[in-house]
Amino acid sequence: MDVRTCEINLNHWYVVAQSTEVTTKPIEVQLWYHSIVLYRDSEGKIHGLDNRCLHRQVKLSEGKVVENALECAYHGWQFNQQGICTFIPYLNPAVNGRVLEHQALPNCKIDVYPVQEWDGFIWVFLGDQQLLESETVKPMSIPEWEHLNYIGTVSVIDCQAHFSFLIENLMDMYHGHLHNDYQAWTEAKLKELVTTKKEIKGVYDAKSYYKIDKIWSISQLFFPRFRALHSELLMVNYCYPHWRSTLGKYFTIYCLFCPINLTHTKAYLIHFTSLNAFHRLHKLPRWFRQFIKDKLYGTAQTMLDGLVKQDIIMIEQEQQAYIQQLKKPTYEINPTIGAVQKMIKQQVQTRIKNKNVQKEQNKINNNGMINQ
Ligand code: FES
Ligand SMILES: [Fe+2]
Repeated sequence: MDVRTCEINLNHWYVVAQSTEVTTKPIEVQLWYHSIVLYRDSEGKIHGLDNRCLHRQVKLSEGKVVENALECAYHGWQFNQQGICTFIPYLNPAVNGRVLEHQALPNCKIDVYPVQEWDGFIWVFLGDQQLLESETVKPMSIPEWEHLNYIGTVSVIDCQAHFSFLIENLMDMYHGHLHNDYQAWTEAKLKELVTTKKEIKGVYDAKSYYKIDKIWSISQLFFPRFRALHSELLMVNYCYPHWRSTLGKYFTIYCLFCPINLTHTKAYLIHFTSLNAFHRLHKLPRWFRQFIKDKLYGTAQTMLDGLVKQDIIMIEQEQQAYIQQLKKPTYEINPTIGAVQKMIKQQVQTRIKNKNVQKEQNKINNNGMINQ
């Protein structure tokens, strides 16, 4: 099995948008060869349907929401939240002065996907329904999103490459070399690698330029002269299909994956600066702390966008090299990469196995019914 052509395990929740992107105006999002239309109803609940009108296959995201139903832009057919066609504006017309034979609404239904809004993002599940009902799969938790002690920044990664190249980039902290001019971290040395069925944890000894222990330390994000190199632990965690990392006590970063297809990956990188060190701040009224959190949102934007830009260039070149020089060997010495590739392959196999178990179970159920 070639990791660069591995599918994703659909039996996980994936992120397709930020909460703020979804309004009562329908939008298109994509996840693993699926085009999905998302919209909010009048109560603010989000719905996700297959983005194809059942009349002529045009995208429903071109349409609008009318009384909580999705109205196609082309001929105005309407579909409710369950995907059922509920209205056609020109049903039963009088042709040549005669009403046509009674026309009924077509008995059709658009696929509706499980969607939830969770910690500032919209998550979609395209996997096996029964697994979802067993409630063992949940979106990744991002407690810092709401917590008043954390200042967030989001940067979108959109790269023309297989998702394995992106997660390998995020797990291999020796690539601090690339980001030297952004002074994020340096001198990483892998000291621990722990692999379980569900995750891979890599711990690096590293040096960081940031120490957010005084309120004015946040200015380090803007002014390099306030930064001082010091030792910190750099932890990276691949909790398939997403990623979480911490740099000392001050920074937590998440990468939420949205693989579009085999050579296109979107992801949301979320950076949190911790204000945990400021005890006096915690005694202030909640509204004021919320005000600070909102005001400082996006403080790490320049740094984060800069890092993403540099990474994307490398990742896309890897993809191109893979396409062009399929037979050329490459060499790797960081053991986290091997662990990541193994995990990706295992996840594909788990999905296949689940499907087979499901088939077996259905067979048993059907036989049981026949024998009754
Ligand atoms: S294509 Fe959607 S209503 Fe005709
Ligand atoms: Fe990077």
